[in-house]
Amino acid sequence: MTRFRLVLAAGWVLTLVPGAAGQVTPRAGWSLAAGAQDLIQAGAWGCVAGVTAAPGLVTVSAGSGGYNTAINTTGPVLMVNGDFSVLARLSAPNSPGAFLTLVGALNNGAWWQGLKRLDVGFTGSAMQSNYWTGSSSTATLTSLGTLPAGDPVTFEVARIGTQFVIYVNGTQAGSFADPGVFASGTVYLGFNVAPGGTLAVSGLAAAVPSGAPANASFFAPWLQTIARSGSGLRDLADQGGFLVGAAVDPSLFSQSPYSQDLGCEFNLVVGANAMKFAETEPGPGQYNFCAADEVVAFAQANGMKIRGHNLVWQQDLPSWLTTGNYSAADAANILQDHIQTVVSHFKGQLILWDVVNEAIAYGAPYGPQPSYWLNQFGSLTSYVDQAFRWAHAADPNVKLYYNDTGGEGLGAKSDAVYNLVSGMVSRGVPINGVGLQMHVTLSGAPSPAAVAANMARYAQLGLEVQITEMDVRLPVPASASDLQAQSGVYSGIAATCMAAPNCTAFLTWGVGDPDSWIPGAYPGFGAALLFDDQYQPKPAYYGVASAITAAVAKPRIFYGGIVIHAGVSSTVSPGSLADIYGSNLAAAARSLPAGATELAPTLGGTQVTVNGVTAPLVYVSPSQAIFQVPYETAPGTATVVVTSGSAASGSAPLTVSAAAPSILTYGDNRAVVVNQGGAINSATACAAPGSRVVAYLIGSGPVDNPIATGALAPQSPFSQETLPVSVTLDGTAAPSVPFAGMAPGFAGLVQLNFVVPAVAAGDHALIVSFGSAQSNQPLMCVSQ
Ligand code: XIL
Repeated sequence: MTRFRLVLAAGWVLTLVPGAAGQVTPRAGWSLAAGAQDLIQAGAWGCVAGVTAAPGLVTVSAGSGGYNTAINTTGPVLMVNGDFSVLARLSAPNSPGAFLTLVGALNNGAWWQGLKRLDVGFTGSAMQSNYWTGSSSTATLTSLGTLPAGDPVTFEVARIGTQFVIYVNGTQAGSFADPGVFASGTVYLGFNVAPGGTLAVSGLAAAVPSGAPANASFFAPWLQTIARSGSGLRDLADQGGFLVGAAVDPSLFSQSPYSQDLGCEFNLVVGANAMKFAETEPGPGQYNFCAADEVVAFAQANGMKIRGHNLVWQQDLPSWLTTGNYSAADAANILQDHIQTVVSHFKGQLILWDVVNEAIAYGAPYGPQPSYWLNQFGSLTSYVDQAFRWAHAADPNVKLYYNDTGGEGLGAKSDAVYNLVSGMVSRGVPINGVGLQMHVTLSGAPSPAAVAANMARYAQLGLEVQITEMDVRLPVPASASDLQAQSGVYSGIAATCMAAPNCTAFLTWGVGDPDSWIPGAYPGFGAALLFDDQYQPKPAYYGVASAITAAVAKPRIFYGGIVIHAGVSSTVSPGSLADIYGSNLAAAARSLPAGATELAPTLGGTQVTVNGVTAPLVYVSPSQAIFQVPYETAPGTATVVVTSGSAASGSAPLTVSAAAPSILTYGDNRAVVVNQGGAINSATACAAPGSRVVAYLIGSGPVDNPIATGALAPQSPFSQETLPVSVTLDGTAAPSVPFAGMAPGFAGLVQLNFVVPAVAAGDHALIVSFGSAQSNQPLMCVSQ
């Protein structure tokens, strides 16, 4: 038989029989329960204390001092109802005793108090079962005969009616009355190993009588999908493509009002602590993503986005690090490994990382925050810049934020944060946004105007912002008037964020007052969040809800939602067509009337302006508007506003350059090219070298025969590009470009006639340049 050698992370080697891992076979008439066919793989055993988890194998060892009873209280549990069984394939040769341990209720005092538990296994060569009912430390023992020869041995504990029936290797070994061990409907899975023994579990599953699939299901708090009310904050926010979030503690996912509010109200989560340094790297080079993975799983099960928080902070550092006497070079290596490992673990699953948190001091004069990292790296910018570069290297697609507290409005702290961030931008450090924490009091909260001004200066740097950790702490017990005032602070900040074109999310630091960090951090204060002690909405909740409702009723241009028409580039040129993506941009979809001889200044009551100049329209709908960049728009950053009826959007930035060639594409990045003879170029319709083809683009440069904004390009004389035009296929230049100019009878459409260069048969990247501006690189096929 073929055996695979599997090298495990810890460096040890294990031999597995292929196909056997995790699988056990139910008895005739029974079937494995859905989702519970392989409870080794699904059980998240790597997060359970006292066990070693490897693919397809759980190992439990006991030292000489006592039994090791490892109960999986953090992983998924079985939910049972009626007849069910649990099967476990146990291998513990030479061990004094080993058991499958099933727990219906955890202890609530001394180890046996309230504990409802059933163990089935062996001591020496005697098989036995023991159960505890919560009122005594003494177990009730049932003998099950002699352990059969051979290894491993499969034990099955079946609850059938009011009996427990035990099967060993498929044969009944005994039965006894069930005192109600699993009356709770919950079964925690575990194992119990006698002193000096080692148990390897290579199969674990739940079974139900065939035809009774509902009798057992596998449940984890973080796998539950919360039934949506349809009228939560997230539903309002979704109408405007906006994110409203909360900091979460995955150990609370099992609590119903908490998880209900979380799943119904928020479309974004951040781990309050789960992704921080001490949690994710509790020992040197030893990583633990148990809690963080639960945050990710809950979010994914409930259609929520996830922020990563945080990679570098002066708090929450493990003592192995801070007392480890590491050299500066060691510390840099440790941080690089941490960032690389943690960012890689979550690659593709997060919208962004708070790479560095609170690197500016909490107090005046707001110099560098005292920190282990500052000491080791020697300067603020050296560790901050380096951390962002490492994070970017680990995942070039995840956005990277700097997050800080107390600098949300204007003032000395805000300036210190701004100076740090603007310095990073000027040094070319990969940063996408700034988190404004917003832990405030009623009297200390910044004004909405100051927050708006601060957001605007980050927009000028090309950065997005988010309100990342808002809470408004009140002296407790909170008065009715304070709760009203709190609502005003919340709604003012939420409205400010939604009105700022670069503010992409609003988060509170916690779901409701019971899970807030405020009472712990600020004794005498509390009541800081949107939900009260019973997780019922507070005035602040209604304040935020109405701010979101008002904001989404108006046209909203999504952040980064303006791109060249039919492309992805955010750079456009005067005269080119561009697309706006957003919400409530128009009352309904409207196109130009058939045969129109010019674009429309308004369509269906919608108007777009660029730097205050009306931009003619091709098409509008609630979610999209296609407009022409007025020819008079100067290169640089322009501002775009959409007005629908009487409501105006915020003003969004638009990058305008002299030329912005963008080849139209279809399918999987194929250039829109018409071959000589009229066929559309494709993998099966290739153009011959030397033939004349026509490509279509958006984003012309200046033309020799100027066209009025909104007018169609003339037939005679043509409007031709004045910038030098180059056309290449994988670097080989087209031998001639007989025409490059505006397609007659169209607005903003560039037509390019060129002769196909002699290149190898097959697909090549087509690149067009107007002056120094280079296009996208779609594929074009050349024949033999
Ligand atoms: C807090 C957590 O909420 C607490 O549970 C923990 O004990 C300390 O950290 N600014 C931040 C957050 O960026 O990470 C902090 O979270 C709150 C202040």
